[in-house]
Amino acid sequence: MILVTGSAGFIGANFVLDWLQIFDEPVVNVDKLTYAGNLRTLKSLQHNPLHIFVCADICDRAAMDELLAEYKPRAIIHLAAETHVDRSIHGPENFVLTNVVGTFTLLEAARSYWSRLNDAGKAEFRFLHVSTDEVFGSLSATDPQFSETTPYAPNSPYSATKAGSDHLVRAYHHTYGLPVLTTNCSNNYGPYQFPEKLIPLMIANALGGKPLPVYGDGQNVRDWLYVGDHCSAIREVLARGTPGETYNVGGWNEKKNLEVVHTLCDLLDQLRPKAGASYRDQISYVKDRPGHDRRYAIDARKLERELGWKPAETFETGLAKTVQWYLDNQEWSDEVASGDYRKWVETNYAQRA
Ligand code: NAD
Ligand code: TYD
Repeated sequence: MILVTGSAGFIGANFVLDWLQIFDEPVVNVDKLTYAGNLRTLKSLQHNPLHIFVCADICDRAAMDELLAEYKPRAIIHLAAETHVDRSIHGPENFVLTNVVGTFTLLEAARSYWSRLNDAGKAEFRFLHVSTDEVFGSLSATDPQFSETTPYAPNSPYSATKAGSDHLVRAYHHTYGLPVLTTNCSNNYGPYQFPEKLIPLMIANALGGKPLPVYGDGQNVRDWLYVGDHCSAIREVLARGTPGETYNVGGWNEKKNLEVVHTLCDLLDQLRPKAGASYRDQISYVKDRPGHDRRYAIDARKLERELGWKPAETFETGLAKTVQWYLDNQEWSDEVASGDYRKWVETNYAQRA
């Protein structure tokens, strides 16, 4: 069996749902259920005997030791994290706790478990750490994309804590021989993403008749990847990646934020037209995020060259699927938006000019 952390969140849930469609290998799913974790996403697995959900904090060493001893996984896929840059600016402490201390705690539990496996179990075991391209910092318009050898230069509390976790993972391989793999992926989008991130936020606000808040001049660039493609990359790296190596994952889809918002509005104009108006009319420029990274872009050639991975979706096909999913699953978005998230948005976003 495999153990997945953070699997009630956006990418983790997509990963587990896809995994159980493809394989009959059981998954133990560990999540603290913070504001970003939503069990409703995993509802279809409620009676699936191959899926075990455990509510636990990765900072809890005793709980991690117990889980590993009980389920004896052949791999840990580590996605649990605090992930929203804006939240990390308002309150970085939880980011240090979960992303750095939590990853450290999980690594210690994994090292202790792994060191007691027999030789075959030791050789087979993998700790796959899911990280972000944000650890590399910000590119100018003409810089080459981030490669696996680009120096780390994180700029936000979020990316700094992810960078810290990446360094710990690397050190556990070099110092203790723990068979680790790290993936650094670009911005994901797709079903079940919490509506605080750009794409689901814009869809929800457009449908709710609210302003579409574009930060600064809207010219910041992100490199977008459909979540299903990120999940297939994680599966490839888990199956055939070389321990100790890192792999950049990206979709070769660099877009300016304003271009993304325009495309979303145009898709909604086609699929859910408003009488005599375009969703583009709701666009509103707001104060920029402090320290806002200008451009992220991933060079994903190593993953293609060494493991044969390529994304299946283009930005156009992935975004069309995503918009349709949010239109078909408004209940999911409504429920998410009615919880703690709304309180947090009211407190922190109310004063935005
Ligand atoms: P998310 O915020 O949607 O989900 C995070 C999950 O982790 C939630 O279910 C939450 O309850 C859980 N969690 C948080 N703290 C925990 C703790 N202490 N113990 C156990 N569970 C805890 O995040 P996501 O977008 O699915 O991202 C998953 C991983 O992928 C993260 O490590 C993130 O850094 C990385 N990543 C995300 C993106 C992206 O665009 N979303 C891109 C590259 C990498
Ligand atoms: P986000 O989804 O928060 O991801 P990240 O900051 O990790 O890349 O933001 C994506 C881009 O969209 C980023 O440049 C900030 C911008 N953005 C807005 O313009 N308005 C918004 O309301 C949000 C949430 C993001």
